[in-house]
Amino acid sequence: MQTQGQKHIVVIGSYNVGFICNTPRLPVWGETILGSGFSVCDGGKGSNQAVAASKLGGKVSFIGCVGDDEYGKSGVEMLRQAGVNVDDVSVSPTAATGVGFVFLNERGENCIVVDPGANHRLLPEDLETKKSVQSADILVFQLENHIETIRKGMELGKKAGKTIIFNPAPASPGLDDLIGLSTIVTPNESELLILNGLDPSCTPSTEDCEHLSRVLLRKGPEAVIVTRGEKGALLVTADDSVIVPAPRVNVVDTTGAGDSFTGGLAVALSEGSALPDAVRFACYVGAFCVTKEDVIPALPTREEFQTFLLQCAEPNRVF
Ligand code: RIB
Repeated sequence: MQTQGQKHIVVIGSYNVGFICNTPRLPVWGETILGSGFSVCDGGKGSNQAVAASKLGGKVSFIGCVGDDEYGKSGVEMLRQAGVNVDDVSVSPTAATGVGFVFLNERGENCIVVDPGANHRLLPEDLETKKSVQSADILVFQLENHIETIRKGMELGKKAGKTIIFNPAPASPGLDDLIGLSTIVTPNESELLILNGLDPSCTPSTEDCEHLSRVLLRKGPEAVIVTRGEKGALLVTADDSVIVPAPRVNVVDTTGAGDSFTGGLAVALSEGSALPDAVRFACYVGAFCVTKEDVIPALPTREEFQTFLLQCAEPNRVF
């Protein structure tokens, strides 16, 4: 349920249709292996984050671009059904809706290849005419759209004094200008390494995460929040570093964990929570998400979220 005075969250991001398959391992080049459990579902980091925020009760609009095809139509309808304002979604007459190929192992870990398709047809100049850019209080970005469009959106937001949440996924090195335009950056561990020009296959310690976050902080944001799976999150600001633990859960599918975290963070901030409380809220949203298959059906309503808190033996936690 939305409340009066609640801030407007606007996600400028991607919609992808997801093709999901379980696999015992990843093939090498030239090899074919057998997987199982194929399904088609809604995805895309931007769309996932918008739905996460909306289902939790946020006032949310989505700005994106889909193809003129069945996947695009059903994706926009899914967003609408989830309560997301889709007035500013464009349809490309030539590019296909974005696609995400998601491979899951038996531990629920995923790896994903995205073909952005129509997501890259959202152009910088399009943002000038999108009404929700102006009415936004909190702007949320990822990296599945064209980089020039993301930069333009961030510049417009920064100039107007809006809070900018940047989920740098899928990450690449050399994004200093985007990091500098952001208020809050939310990488996972591998993205934090990539942003710092390091090998993403290492597992950074808490000290490493703090050090690498401080390197990013020097580029301009007020906070870096590193999402660390079952270890929770690390919130790093100029004056502080806070470890926020995640509740213990039975992990079924980690797809969308980072998206649910970022959507949850945006909602808590839109309701006026202080940043450490918003990170705690987001950690629990992420934990809920990984207990279920798929992404959209694994995103909790506010009611489901409160029940989950009780199950986590946190009955006195009020969000
Ligand atoms: O973060 C998960 C998402 O990444 C998937 O839904 C997939 O579409 C990719 O965008």
